[in-house]
Amino acid sequence: MDPFEVLGVDPDADESAVARAYRDRVKETHPDQGGSRDAFMRLQRAYTAIRNGEALIQEENPDDDSVTASSAAAASTPGEPPGPPPGTARMEYLDYEVLADHGWEVDDEDLFEAAAAADLGPESYGRLLVEREETLLEAAERAGFAWPFACRGGACANCAVLLREGEVEMAQSHVLPNGMVEEGIRLSCLCRPRSDTLQVVYNVKHLPGLDELRLPSQRF
Ligand code: FES
Repeated sequence: MDPFEVLGVDPDADESAVARAYRDRVKETHPDQGGSRDAFMRLQRAYTAIRNGEALIQEENPDDDSVTASSAAAASTPGEPPGPPPGTARMEYLDYEVLADHGWEVDDEDLFEAAAAADLGPESYGRLLVEREETLLEAAERAGFAWPFACRGGACANCAVLLREGEVEMAQSHVLPNGMVEEGIRLSCLCRPRSDTLQVVYNVKHLPGLDELRLPSQRF
């Protein structure tokens, strides 16, 4: 399959046109936006292929769960890894939705150690590399994960994450009250890494105070 066809751009499209088309297509294919996981994964493969300079992408069996598992496993490297390659940060992530199942609280001091020892699947816990100029949301999607979002522009709290460790730069948003920012809440669609390592609890949109800032995904 031609990745340019999947993104709907010409093969000679420049980087910014490809990135724009990708963002538009994400809005159509993301499971939160009424799309399907298969379409979303196909788009991720196409975008990765273009960024890597590959002319074709491998077709994969849409019913095969290993599609997600393999890309996720590549992103997830439990244990103590060396520092990230130059120009990237290593983000350790944990899905807020699994906390209650394990009796964990979001402010537990040893939360990530407990998660690392809990044999969670790569969609719930792991590590992935974030390029310095991409957002945390884009990095998660590039690794094949469908993290929640709605507007991708700082107008809602659907993409909120809790930054437990590390530094990010967040483009301006008037949505998050200062108190939440002080508590570590950030918008993953607007954040870029500014430290070598990050620890992030994603999918925190149901935390008290964030629920009412959410918007219906289908609006965008
Ligand atoms: S998706 Fe709406 S602020 Fe990030």
